[in-house]
Amino acid sequence: MNKKTASLSLEGVKDSIDLPILGGSIGPDVIDVGGLTAKGYFTFDPGFMSTASCESRITYIDGDKGVLLHRGYPIEQLAEKSDYLETCYLLLNGELPDPAQKAEFENDIRYHTMVHEKLCEFFKGFPINAHPMAIMVGVVGALSAFYHDSLDIMKEEDRRISAHRLIAKMPTIAAMCYKHAIGQPFMYPRNDFGYAENFLHMMFSTPCEAPKVSPILAKAMDTIFLLHADHEQNASTSTVRLAGSTGANPFACVSAGIAALWGPAHGGANEAVLNMLDEIGDESRIEEFIKRAKDKNDPFRLMGFGHRVYKNFDPRAKVMRKICDEVLTELGVENDPLFRIARRLEKIALEDEYFIERKLYPNVDFYSGIILKAIGIPASMFTVIFAVGRTPGWISHWNEMISNPYKIGRPRQLYTGHARRDYPGT
Ligand code: CMC
Repeated sequence: MNKKTASLSLEGVKDSIDLPILGGSIGPDVIDVGGLTAKGYFTFDPGFMSTASCESRITYIDGDKGVLLHRGYPIEQLAEKSDYLETCYLLLNGELPDPAQKAEFENDIRYHTMVHEKLCEFFKGFPINAHPMAIMVGVVGALSAFYHDSLDIMKEEDRRISAHRLIAKMPTIAAMCYKHAIGQPFMYPRNDFGYAENFLHMMFSTPCEAPKVSPILAKAMDTIFLLHADHEQNASTSTVRLAGSTGANPFACVSAGIAALWGPAHGGANEAVLNMLDEIGDESRIEEFIKRAKDKNDPFRLMGFGHRVYKNFDPRAKVMRKICDEVLTELGVENDPLFRIARRLEKIALEDEYFIERKLYPNVDFYSGIILKAIGIPASMFTVIFAVGRTPGWISHWNEMISNPYKIGRPRQLYTGHARRDYPGT
């Protein structure tokens, strides 16, 4: 076999160091720097701009070409032909299910959607104005307190059941966060509803009234979950892997992922989009905000624009844009001032040299924020919905890591602090 190597010459060192080059199935080759430590060196790559932290078979992204594949399947095809639960199965198991496997998986998820009644009591301890992500971090982590019987992470069956529990219970917990905030009773899941339909039911029904969930909105919700299902080694997924590499249980790891997702540079962006649109308030102020976004001395950025990986376009945003149109039409709110601001902002940014030069296109959060707002979901719940959608991704990566040989994740550093010095008076 023709093994490629890279050769590293270091000033003042006689022999160069040979580093193996590893090839993936697609995508750039990777230089294996693992052997450098033995030679007394670490690599330095803050923000992991050039570092592959693991080997994975789940998701492939080509940011320049705007490609996103789950287990090889393009996201556009999954969004059009598949559904969220089938995509969950694909991410978890590596292949699409046959009809019997699909039915069995859906059934398994359906029969795990209820949460333990004791878990409902947790909510009483949270203030009414608690951010739903704060509740999610706590409550999802607390799930581990209820499943001691199936937390042996070395057992495949325990990993499977934990994965199914997480995917099934996330929408229930998410809807409970919302009900807690508005002071309404929790709604139990309904086994005769589909996944997204059930979520909207638990969000918007009350014991007094259960409005029929519009199929268009249920489909939009399902696609929002699907488009968020996985995204390779992003900050929250890497957090789940890092936490998991210590041997922590999957509920604790996913809770860590939820915490990482919360930040406005990651999952918090969809909430930030709506806050920004509110702040702009009127179409006449758009120019002012565009100017601020371009000003190097102003920390303001246009939320929902730009992406660390997609430097051409975000293929999820393309799908989401179409759904956005469908939902706004279905709800008859195309002319709502907030949505008009969003549309104008999108147009101006797409035509502005600053954004074109830097390849700052509307990302998935720009459109998902608008859709969720139109459905009637408050901005504080947006990142929670992202967390629900991302759960199969987190758990698939965790499972992939645990099922293969792995090491505890332990980055090193470039130390620039004081050298050894003595305590005064020593
Ligand atoms: N508005 C104005 N300028 C921007 C923006 C923006 N949203 N994003 C990047 N820039 C500029 C930035 O100032 C820099 O300009 P210059 O080269 O003149 O210094 C250039 O574009 C490159 O920016 P960067 O910070 O080096 O890019 P990055 O890849 O590190 O950051 C990002 C990616 C997503 C953090 C950033 O674009 C951003 O903060 N966007 C707004 C927040 C947002 O929408 N985040 C959601 C990301 S998608 C969801 C997910 O996958 O989690």
